[in-house]
Amino acid sequence: MNNVERLDVHPRIIAALKKVRLTSQASILRMSAADLERTTKLSLFDVSILLRAVSHSLPCPTVKTALSLYNSAGKASKGQRLSLGCHILDDCLRGGILRQGITEIAGESSSGKTQICLQLCLTVQLPEEKGGFGGGAVYISTEDVFPSKRLHQLMQSFVKNHTITSTAKISPSDHIFIEHAADVDDLRNIITHRLPVLLKRGIIKLVIIDSIAALFRVEYSFGETSKRAKVLRSFGAQLHKLSHQHEIPVVCVNQVSDVIQPETDRGFCGNRKDVVPALGLAWSSMVTTRMMLSRTEQVIQPHNDASTTKGTSSVIKRCLRIVYAPHLPSSTCFFYVNEAGVCGYQKNSEK
Ligand SMILES: Nc1ncnc2c1ncn2[C@@H]1O[C@H](COP(=O)(O)OP(=O)(O)OP(=O)(O)O)[C@@H](O)[C@H]1O
Ligand SMILES: [Mg+2]
Repeated sequence: MNNVERLDVHPRIIAALKKVRLTSQASILRMSAADLERTTKLSLFDVSILLRAVSHSLPCPTVKTALSLYNSAGKASKGQRLSLGCHILDDCLRGGILRQGITEIAGESSSGKTQICLQLCLTVQLPEEKGGFGGGAVYISTEDVFPSKRLHQLMQSFVKNHTITSTAKISPSDHIFIEHAADVDDLRNIITHRLPVLLKRGIIKLVIIDSIAALFRVEYSFGETSKRAKVLRSFGAQLHKLSHQHEIPVVCVNQVSDVIQPETDRGFCGNRKDVVPALGLAWSSMVTTRMMLSRTEQVIQPHNDASTTKGTSSVIKRCLRIVYAPHLPSSTCFFYVNEAGVCGYQKNSEK
């Protein structure tokens, strides 16, 4: 910290400070007024002038209004969120999924988890000003074979809606790297050895694991909960490390477990039964943002907008619920899946 000679006080005070070898502002600030008075033999009035001069000489951060903080946060979020490819869903997530950390997409079978992941593999390739990160994706599938047919179907409407990729004559599928993990050891090998090498090349901007639950539910029995928790924590820590080192989101798909409830109680989105994400507390504590998907019993007509291709056949109304996130309140929005992909749903009156 600066020398006391620069302080705007009477030379007599500076001489008193030097005499007792109080030559830095830090050493003055470490003492109480009474101690300074006793040590320097200055009067209490001189000590108060000294302390005021020291505090004025310290660098002071400029005061910001709440409005300027809000505006700068809005600007900073550009390039920090990955779009889901639909403005309704992006609005619900305030721009998309976070660039850093683990985003979990949990839900029952056929709720739309894989569809959202496939769509993210495409949107990540968009430039930052269009909600992407301008890079490719690694898709680690653990259950079924990678749905390449469906990806190609999604790509057709994606290329149609985002002319940038079609004019570049590069197929978006060229930037999606597919890995298959048959068991927990395979997954460990991928995330600790192969993935870091691939990420170092800087072309990957998204990692998806579909699904994390499938492997752990099969390999660990009820009696091995603590062993499973330990492995899950180490996997979570490795994924966080990769996410923060390379500034890329890691999306993990999770299954759900049933919660036994009285028949009269209905789930948040109108389901008869209630479910919670699988893998317990050990995994929950590793997740940055948790989203839950579910199917409702309602059938709706899709919007007739750019994202829908031919036909407007009825689709199932689905629910996306933000369970927790560091930057979002708990909220819910609706969506549907059709041949063009995943699209948010709002009643016309709400638009
Ligand atoms: N080409 C398509 N056209 C219309 N809807 C489709 C199409 N492909 C998939 N879907 C819808 O997506 C649903 C499946 O979604 P998805 O594969 O994402 O489920 P999931 O949540 O990953 O399920 P699981 O846990 O079994 O993997 C289907 O039930 C279907 O309604
Ligand atoms: Mg799936």
